[in-house]
Amino acid sequence: MKVLITGDHAGMTIRNEVIKLLDELNIEYEDAGCSCEHSVDYPDYALPAAEQVASGEFDRGIFICGTGIGMSISANKVRGIRCALVSDVYSAELTRRHNDSNVLALGERVIGPGLAREIARTWLETEFDGGRHADRIEKVTAYETHQSKQEAGEL
Ligand code: RB5
Repeated sequence: MKVLITGDHAGMTIRNEVIKLLDELNIEYEDAGCSCEHSVDYPDYALPAAEQVASGEFDRGIFICGTGIGMSISANKVRGIRCALVSDVYSAELTRRHNDSNVLALGERVIGPGLAREIARTWLETEFDGGRHADRIEKVTAYETHQSKQEAGEL
């Protein structure tokens, strides 16, 4: 699995904690910043990173900001992205099993580094259940495809 991690200035501590975890779990990753001496704008990081996950260049993404909300809103604008903003371990497990989420958003001003680490570990280690959940995701994908065709003037 290849993971792309990114975050804004408000997500630096948790980003470093998750990077330590990725090293410990021997998971291949790339850190897309920010280096953040100053305040930055979360869409400038979330949107290109989400594109890289949607294109298949990376299997999964972990995006971090102050609340995780800006990152998740931005990431979910990109077709093919299923970004889950998670603050508890139960949701981390269920969003993998039921939603096959490919991006995890975390909020550093909401949860501490210890919990962030357990959420990330659970999310990275949990597989998708498939079955009826795949049918539900297919409905979302079909909607995205319909929108694309409409925009391209094919409908
Ligand atoms: C930055 O102050 C903060 O707004 C950002 O990190 C994030 O929480 C936005 O959703």
